[in-house]
Amino acid sequence: MTALQPDRAVAVVGAGTMGQGIAQVALLAGHPVLLYDAMEGRAAKAAGAILDRLERRVARDGMSAADRDAAAARLRPVETLAQLAGAGLVIEAIVEQLPVKQKLFAELEPVVGPDCLLATNTSSLSVTAIGGALRRPGRFLGLHFFNPAPVLPLVEVVRGFATEEAAAERARATLAAWGKAPVRCADTPGFVVNRVARPFYAEAFRVYEERGADPATIDAVLRESGGFAMGPFELTDLIGQDVNEAVTRSVYEAFSHDRKFTPSLAQRRLVEAGLLGRKSGRGWYRHGADAVRPEPHTAEPCQAPAAVTLSGTLPAAAAVLPELIEAAGIEIRREDGGFGQLVLPGGTPLVLAFDEAGGDSVVRFDLALDYRTCTRVALAPSVTAPAADVAAATGLFQALGKKVSVLGDVPGAVVARTVAMLADFAEDAVGRGVADEADVDTAMRLGVNYPRGPLEWGRSLGPSWVCRLLRHLEAQYPGGRYAAGQALRRRAAAERSLLQS
Ligand code: NAI
Repeated sequence: MTALQPDRAVAVVGAGTMGQGIAQVALLAGHPVLLYDAMEGRAAKAAGAILDRLERRVARDGMSAADRDAAAARLRPVETLAQLAGAGLVIEAIVEQLPVKQKLFAELEPVVGPDCLLATNTSSLSVTAIGGALRRPGRFLGLHFFNPAPVLPLVEVVRGFATEEAAAERARATLAAWGKAPVRCADTPGFVVNRVARPFYAEAFRVYEERGADPATIDAVLRESGGFAMGPFELTDLIGQDVNEAVTRSVYEAFSHDRKFTPSLAQRRLVEAGLLGRKSGRGWYRHGADAVRPEPHTAEPCQAPAAVTLSGTLPAAAAVLPELIEAAGIEIRREDGGFGQLVLPGGTPLVLAFDEAGGDSVVRFDLALDYRTCTRVALAPSVTAPAADVAAATGLFQALGKKVSVLGDVPGAVVARTVAMLADFAEDAVGRGVADEADVDTAMRLGVNYPRGPLEWGRSLGPSWVCRLLRHLEAQYPGGRYAAGQALRRRAAAERSLLQS
């Protein structure tokens, strides 16, 4: 299916934040662009703002004056819907209210030609429900851009229930021709990114609510150990607590209060208090010129143990550790069998994220994206772990050149439980046909900047190990939030049967 020819006009309805960004993208891809807004004079003003941004590209990014002039000549603010008649694609970015969007498309349908694609940029409404207002919903679909649209490459191409394959494919090809990274997905709550990303916030907030660690420490661990660009507390302060919570809440509602999507009480309180993040000067953190950013917990230097025992084989994610430990001059005594753990000098197991043996006294170490290169590792000792062994574990990771954050008694630590949940949500999305595997990982890397796609990451940890970690969490927090989905469990079963054959 071919992309929309660049000489066909693209119309953008709604000239706010997203509409302006999308209009700029279509303009720079070479299309004539029509810009319409219900508020009088708004489209013309928005066109002026887009031209100002092009001006900055000339000054800063090497855009030629001729290209700017050509783009300016292609941009046309209009004052009536009837003026959108010749468009080959209309993208709507108006207020996020179903009846308003339905009314707009019902008015638009008789105006445009039969081959015109109609698209909504909705982030939380059902594409199928919006398209329900149309007489011919086959050419209607979702094109979910991310903010700022001119910068972020990801666009979710959402097939409503009635969207025809040819329309979805033509839209995808058009986005690809514009230099975007379109991923195709089905019309389910949150699409791919806003669905799969929920645990990134939820797990961090839960650890905080249980006093497992403060926001600065959790953020530092997810950044410096997990490899995420930002931690959930700083990221939601940037997004706006109200905006982030509204997405969580809308997905939770749309999934009929499925426990897996339960919103955080602590975040609710922030929103109620008007602590919305950067835009209100305070959220999880204080912002503004004189705000002092709290430091993450970082342990004082501790003595490394002379030797530790390696019992069995460590889980795949930690397989590199023995080599690093020996390179740091710590002796490893090997013991066959066992649960795949290190044993500290006082006899306490040092385990990745959770204790498979089910003992009371344990020092858990957190998952790292890469133990060779990470700069911080978190420890989550059980309340009964002897202080001397917590210090020995701290000294061990410090000997590897890592900063160490000691958390409370947090089952599954922070990075490990977050990644396990992301992997489960991603497998579930694929299992339910929301998107294909490559598109889910691409969406999470490009849409929310994850260091690894959650499917690829989960599979590298081993689906069985991820399942066992989730089973452990479900035992600690009964109620279904951590119950692994069918897709992950099938993958784990397949892995086990492969190992046995
Ligand atoms: P905005 O408030 O900045 O702009 C909305 C514009 O639509 C306003 O200029 C308003 O005058 C106009 N408008 C309202 N009703 C209209 C109608 N019936 N006909 C024509 N124009 C109308 O909103 P924003 O942030 O640009 O969001 C627009 C859409 O994009 C929403 O559906 C939102 O969920 C979605 N979205 C927003 C993202 C964001 O980060 N802001 C990201 C992805 C999607």
